[in-house]
Amino acid sequence: MNRQRQVQELIYELLLTVEDTEQRSYGYVHLFGVSALAAMLAMHRGLDVELAGVAGLLHDIATYTSGSAHEHARRSAEQASQILGTAGVFAPGEVDAICTSIAHHSDKANTHDPFSELLKDADVLQHCLYSAVLIDAQVRLKRLEDVCRELSLSWPGEPDQ
Ligand SMILES: [Fe+2]
Repeated sequence: MNRQRQVQELIYELLLTVEDTEQRSYGYVHLFGVSALAAMLAMHRGLDVELAGVAGLLHDIATYTSGSAHEHARRSAEQASQILGTAGVFAPGEVDAICTSIAHHSDKANTHDPFSELLKDADVLQHCLYSAVLIDAQVRLKRLEDVCRELSLSWPGEPDQ
């Protein structure tokens, strides 16, 4: 089994423990959706596609396993580090790149390393593609516009609320 598939199965099992069915369903949609979009952006930007996909799978994991979004970037990075350490198939540098991007991903207003920026953009893109009403902040809208321009996509503009 390849490494990303291994993490997908772990995520699948972890989300099964989420009691709230709506939260559980959105967990699957969001984590697997961000994973696919992060992999696509990695292809476009010449970054590691597998690590991008894994970062997407894990980036909000603490939100779903704890039921709280409080400091979820830091807590998800810590949980991702534990999960990847237990899996034992990623090199320390790979775990560090994944967990650093997860720790930064809530800070959408600032710029970090290319891998962190990729995860932030994939996160915004998934939210917007799933439900345009979630474009609730100027900083997210700016990221969306930038990604659409980068990928030569046209976004229909401000959503109807
Ligand atoms: Fe997210």
